[in-house]
Amino acid sequence: MSVKNKPSISWYCIMTVWRVMLPSSSCFAGYLSVLAVVLKTNNASPWTNEFDKVELSCVIESISTINPRIEWKKITSGGPSYVYFDKKIYGDLENRAVIREPATLLITNATRSDTAKYRCEVTAAEDQKAFDEILIDLVVRVKPVVPKCSVPKSVPLGKSAELSCVEEEGFPKSRYQWFKNMEEIPDDPKTSVKFFNSSYTLSTETGTLKFISVRKEDAGEYYCRAKNDAGHTQCAPQKMEVYDIDIVGIILGVLVVVVVLLCITVGICCAYKQGYFSSQQQTGNNYKVPAKGDGVDYVRTEDEGDFRHKSSFVI
Ligand SMILES: *[C@@H]1O[C@H](CO)[C@@H](O)[C@H](O)[C@H]1NC(C)=O
Ligand SMILES: *[C@@H]1O[C@H](CO)[C@@H](O)[C@H](O)[C@H]1NC(C)=O
Repeated sequence: MSVKNKPSISWYCIMTVWRVMLPSSSCFAGYLSVLAVVLKTNNASPWTNEFDKVELSCVIESISTINPRIEWKKITSGGPSYVYFDKKIYGDLENRAVIREPATLLITNATRSDTAKYRCEVTAAEDQKAFDEILIDLVVRVKPVVPKCSVPKSVPLGKSAELSCVEEEGFPKSRYQWFKNMEEIPDDPKTSVKFFNSSYTLSTETGTLKFISVRKEDAGEYYCRAKNDAGHTQCAPQKMEVYDIDIVGIILGVLVVVVVLLCITVGICCAYKQGYFSSQQQTGNNYKVPAKGDGVDYVRTEDEGDFRHKSSFVI
């Protein structure tokens, strides 16, 4: 079709140049305009918020055919599908769109799935250039829903902390802001006197607020806001506390444990030396120092040792 149209398009171009060059010659221009169907739009990339109306403007600037064929197609990644032909609306838009004569498509209650490219095509059989089309890029904006926020309840002083915020309904994709005690946290702490010494990094794209080393001053009530062109929503504030790990306390605790262990060890040693475990000491002597005892003891020990040796061998 495009190949067939080529000569008439270039013909039309020449005519247009003439028309621009000779604007006063309205009679001439009128004559030229009957040669071709020409479309134009008031807005090639309209947008609307979800559940609002939107106009996909397709204006027939010139035509001489009385009953042109007007069609609208929706172009998605799956290919084109009919929205309007034979004077009827089809598909998903069936009860949500009307045609405003002659060719403009009016969507009365847009949904997020309407975001796509739409093509207005007009075929005018009696015109020399019998076909024209125009592409409209529609964006239906979706307001963010309440984001999912995660704030750690308490963080040890000097440790890292991560606060996250996620919202996935919004279109265009949500961006994020964080607030501490109702005050917006700047993207860069160095730009603010109040946050100057804070060690955080803030990503407005991912919604992550990361502290490298938490300070006492970082404690507070945090909430996040997801926003896009359609609006914004935020989660409820959540408290983050910062607690001090008491180094002195820990060292004292460790010392106490060490001292207690030492006392126990010393106690056991003393008791041992003063013969509290004397019976055990004797049997121990039988094994460890067999030569020291009398002959009987020695033989018995050797027997036992032999036996043990054998049994362990069997096992
Ligand atoms: C638009 O459509 C939604 C559902 O898709 C419906 O809940 C809402 O009431 C409609 N609004 C109008 C004005 O028809
Ligand atoms: C930041 O730290 C410096 C040096 O530790 C201190 O002098 C200054 O007062 C601090 N600023 C704030 C706003 O806390």
